[in-house]
Amino acid sequence: MFDRKTCCVVVVGAQWGDEGKGKLVDVLAERADYVVRYQGGANAGHTVVTGDEQFILQQTPSGILHPKAICLIGNGVVLDPETLFKELDHLASRGIVTAGRIFVSDRAHLVLPYHKQLDVASEKSQKIGTTGRGIGPAYEDKYGRRGIRVGDLRNPETLRQLLAERVERANRLLQMMGVAERASLEEHVALVEGLAPRLLPIAADTGRLVHRALQDGKRVLLEGAQGALLDVDHGTYPFVTSSNTTAGGASVGAGIGPTAIDGVLGVVKAYTTRVGNGPLPTEAAGEPGEELRKLGGEFGAVTGRPRRCGWFDANVVRYSVRVNGLTGLAVTKLDVLDTLAEIPVSTGYRVDGELSEELPSEVHQLERVDPIYEILPGWRKPLGNARRMADLPPEARAYLDRLQDLSGAPIRYVSVGTRRDQIIEV
Ligand code: IMP
Ligand code: MG
Repeated sequence: MFDRKTCCVVVVGAQWGDEGKGKLVDVLAERADYVVRYQGGANAGHTVVTGDEQFILQQTPSGILHPKAICLIGNGVVLDPETLFKELDHLASRGIVTAGRIFVSDRAHLVLPYHKQLDVASEKSQKIGTTGRGIGPAYEDKYGRRGIRVGDLRNPETLRQLLAERVERANRLLQMMGVAERASLEEHVALVEGLAPRLLPIAADTGRLVHRALQDGKRVLLEGAQGALLDVDHGTYPFVTSSNTTAGGASVGAGIGPTAIDGVLGVVKAYTTRVGNGPLPTEAAGEPGEELRKLGGEFGAVTGRPRRCGWFDANVVRYSVRVNGLTGLAVTKLDVLDTLAEIPVSTGYRVDGELSEELPSEVHQLERVDPIYEILPGWRKPLGNARRMADLPPEARAYLDRLQDLSGAPIRYVSVGTRRDQIIEV
């Protein structure tokens, strides 16, 4: 992915998240000097299997598992400092040194306990199926211009006043929502005062760090979270997350200009999954869906919820190629399909009898589409040991060729297992 002319690469999820971005970023981070998270927060669950060891990272960039990579949390992230430090402590207990190579934007907004309380309370009526990590309320505060940013911790006197106003407001909202729970000012003050001595030394102008790195010819990987169909603008609104998960968000959220980005890699599962509510046109009902879930181990990394499973949806990926400007695809979990005799792939939708290769903008329309399937033959061989395209059986290559033709972007990587080494560079 990186070469003389390609120094700044974005990796995004091209479906509904959980495509295996963690693994791809881990693999690419070996060649990167910087890895930057730029949106979302501790709602992400990036699973990385290095060898015999497995890590699930929610707030820390996946590059942290490579000793030389410098990891940044950009201004576009809503930072849950408790989760960050819990993860850093956990990594330390497993022998991973993070000191001196993780920095957080002082412009990033904080996710505090009252955000989580509000998130859980609003789910009682809104039923988006959020992760309950306070993401929506934290972004609401950001855009409502009442957020608390990392840099605010530098001014303890004004911070207490800020917290008092925010906690009071949160409690008014909780009352309106009819829940009994209340946020405690003293707990918030104690929490933030306790975190400041650890957070402030790693607070930085991360956009400037990225800019300087690129000027010095370093390689920068921008690590997306969630997926394009969960983007607040381009996703299946209102069943979306609260950030711009598409590649445009990388520029804003990392604090660099769009012209600094040289390539965008979209990660797609060889099939489709979604966790949370909202339309999923190619969802496989009953037995086939259950089987995919079992074969792929499709349970949420953050919440443990069973993921909804279905077949590859070309309309979704084509759309994703367009709204992200994808320059390449990484197809993951191809090995999950190893035992299937036949694999359905949706090539388009029928909408009120008419063929459509686009994604409707309203969820009500998307709920009504009729996917058109093509049935491709399975390969019925284990792919886990393949390291080159030539190692793949002809049916698996034909399957990939079909996905590439339907999607309109070249496949650059194929992942055939959870381990670091189980990857084919095309
Ligand atoms: P929120 O991001 O917690 O507000 O949740 C909004 C929607 O995005 C829900 O459907 C979540 O299940 C989904 N979501 C959030 N983060 C992830 C993720 O990392 N992977 C998959 N789905 C996610
Ligand atoms: Mg995940």
